Amino acid sequence: MNPLHPQPEGPYVVGAADSQPAALQLSVIVPTYRESSGIAEMLERLTGILQSLLPGQYEIIVVDDDSPDLTWQIAQELSSKIPELRVMRRETERGLSTAVLRGWQAARGNFLAVIDADLQHPPETMVDLFRMMQRGSDIAVATRHVEGGGVSDWSLFRRVISRGAQLIGLVMLPGVVGKVTDPMSGYFMVRRSAIANIEMRPLGYKILIEVLARGRCRWIGEVPYVFRERDQGQSKVTRKIYVDYVRHLFRLRLALLPLSRFFRFAVVGCSGVIVDMGLLYLLSDPSMLAWGLTRSKLIASETAIINNFVWNDLWTFGDVSMRHRTWQNRLRRFGKFQMICFVGLVLNAAILNFQFNVLGINRYVANAISIVLVTGWNYWLNLKISWRVADLPKP
Ligand code: GDD
Ligand code: MN
Repeated sequence: MNPLHPQPEGPYVVGAADSQPAALQLSVIVPTYRESSGIAEMLERLTGILQSLLPGQYEIIVVDDDSPDLTWQIAQELSSKIPELRVMRRETERGLSTAVLRGWQAARGNFLAVIDADLQHPPETMVDLFRMMQRGSDIAVATRHVEGGGVSDWSLFRRVISRGAQLIGLVMLPGVVGKVTDPMSGYFMVRRSAIANIEMRPLGYKILIEVLARGRCRWIGEVPYVFRERDQGQSKVTRKIYVDYVRHLFRLRLALLPLSRFFRFAVVGCSGVIVDMGLLYLLSDPSMLAWGLTRSKLIASETAIINNFVWNDLWTFGDVSMRHRTWQNRLRRFGKFQMICFVGLVLNAAILNFQFNVLGINRYVANAISIVLVTGWNYWLNLKISWRVADLPKP
């Protein structure tokens, strides 16, 4: 089977089933880096299990990050004997979680699984995971922390580190990490529809936490397994993996903040005020260019609108705009944004005058109140019209 070429760099979105030709029941991703000594045995054992479980209805995709020990080559040679095996060699990207996502992007299965290549995850447990999915789970996780599960020979230090990481996760993301008994697990199977069309942005190793946080995983199943010691090669866990883990937790914490999109919209709004004020000073202040106030104000507020549009398109509504990335789409969004901002400006002046002239409220208090109200109005209209967030698949 010809080697797979990963999609060019860009957001990690797994397509829905309808966009996949010739669907299979199960795709298993095996992320590899420097696993030349054990990869052949692992793939043969895994193929044996899947061949008896799902003949003709499964595929295995090895995603290798250009291992210097030529792990990808060994797997490719094996693929001439194992038709269900495909190999993806990534030359510009690195990292376990993104390797898994790239594999899922190329996969054709309705169930998407991941298993390590070093036989620390016993391939036999794949059968239990599949059975759990057949019973209707959105995700089935292999766990070390229920009866029948465990670790074969871990030092106290490793147990403390693993549990410590879990604890940090529970403190920062209780609603996510608390969903399963082994959130650190790297062995699980998820239904394609539970993660389809959702932008994933993992860091480091913890792809399960990313899926639980951003996916639509309502029914979660767990099966026990014993995490075995490695016979071949070494763990690739470095200090950076731990730093990435904490950064990943922060990234998810921000992304899952209630009102996090409005919060982003407000931050962008503040940057617009700074641009507006700064330009008004540069253009109209007698000590600077001393241009006329109205002309300066028009240029300043228009530049602020452009600034806000760019940051909203990239950040606040980034998950929407990345689906419609043509210049026509962007210009159309800008036109709508511009209109809404213009209406907002008029509304702002009207609310300010009403408060000041009718209700007798102090001009600065009145101005602050109208800015907040109009920000809410602008946000709501842009949500509905410019970036049509309503069209996004429901979480
Ligand atoms: N493509 C790719 N790129 N694969 C990688 C990379 C990478 O940068 N780094 C590691 N891998 C592959 C390894 O080759 C192996 O197949 C798998 O990812 C796991 O790597 P290990 O380095 O063996 O991890 P571990 O054994 O310390 O931890 C594993 O088990 C834990 C318990 O389930 C991981 O799965 C952890 O995520 C998990 O918590
Ligand atoms: Mn391992």
